[in-house]
Amino acid sequence: MRDAMFNLISRPRRNRKSAAIRRLVRETTVTPSDLILPMFVMEGDDAKEEIPSMPDCFRFGVKAAVREAREIFDLGIPAVALFPKIDDSRKDSMATESTNPDGLLQRCIQELKIAVPELVVITDVAMDPYSSDGHDGIVENGEIVNDKTLQVLASMSVAQAKAGADIVAPSDMMDGRIGFIRKALDESGYTQVSILAYSAKYASSFYGPFRDALDSAPQGGDKKTYQMDTANVREAEREILLDVAEGADMVMVKPALPYLDVIARVRRITNLPLAAYNVSGEYSMIKAAAQMGWIDEDAIVQEVMTSIKRAGADMILTYFAKSVAAALNRP
Ligand code: PBG
Repeated sequence: MRDAMFNLISRPRRNRKSAAIRRLVRETTVTPSDLILPMFVMEGDDAKEEIPSMPDCFRFGVKAAVREAREIFDLGIPAVALFPKIDDSRKDSMATESTNPDGLLQRCIQELKIAVPELVVITDVAMDPYSSDGHDGIVENGEIVNDKTLQVLASMSVAQAKAGADIVAPSDMMDGRIGFIRKALDESGYTQVSILAYSAKYASSFYGPFRDALDSAPQGGDKKTYQMDTANVREAEREILLDVAEGADMVMVKPALPYLDVIARVRRITNLPLAAYNVSGEYSMIKAAAQMGWIDEDAIVQEVMTSIKRAGADMILTYFAKSVAAALNRP
């Protein structure tokens, strides 16, 4: 008789003996409904430009963005997160362009809500794409000033809500911004617009390709006086609890894969929906290794998505959203 040499009480391998049993006992599943596609938008209606450091990821003109959004919604992805690439000529130290009702992002929100009304449109609230300094807040004498920045963020949020955003997502890491933005939205009548707070956003080196995509790298210094120190996890709990108290509807940890411990920790202290952002550097590393033929991209991406959910995330912002959803939809 094969394998009867010992009377083992536990044989965990029984629960792995066929694909069907493995499906039955699987603890974590990823579905297209868990995914949010971050999209880069630019001027030029039908334009579509590949981002050099992010293969297969594009900047879209507004019309092209609408076509892409329709496609990904049909694949079962419920939401997009928009990031505009603003022309240098429109940038200034106060991010004035961010509240322009006819600005690129506002037009894109409007077009998306007309063409695919059920698609959830999430917008980024931070000054960097619009700022000549490339920082998320106002720079005065080399310092990022907090409270004055809140005014700009609030106006930006209201402009996005007015254009039709379903969820505004402050990614700036200024203190007190969630409460400040909530109040501004409510006073303007946008009580139904949600806030997804980038609560635990780290000063990470994994954002490099994103800054290439938007040409939004800081002109001087770094973001370490506002984004979190990569070494801290107790501080992530503090940031999450503050944002919950200030009225966030959903909270986020960012980046995702190098911070699974943070996702698991903050999962335990809030019942709010928890998002994780699988950021540009995480994307580009996988793409580069796959292009070298060193890894199996689809299998690795599936494993990464599952790991982020297993850690405790309810939803994942990922540049892989379309390919993951397409793979899940395959019979
Ligand atoms: C800017 C912002 C950044 C990302 C999302 N919003 C970059 C930064 O903070 O410098 C990074 C996303 C990514 O790398 O995919 N507020």
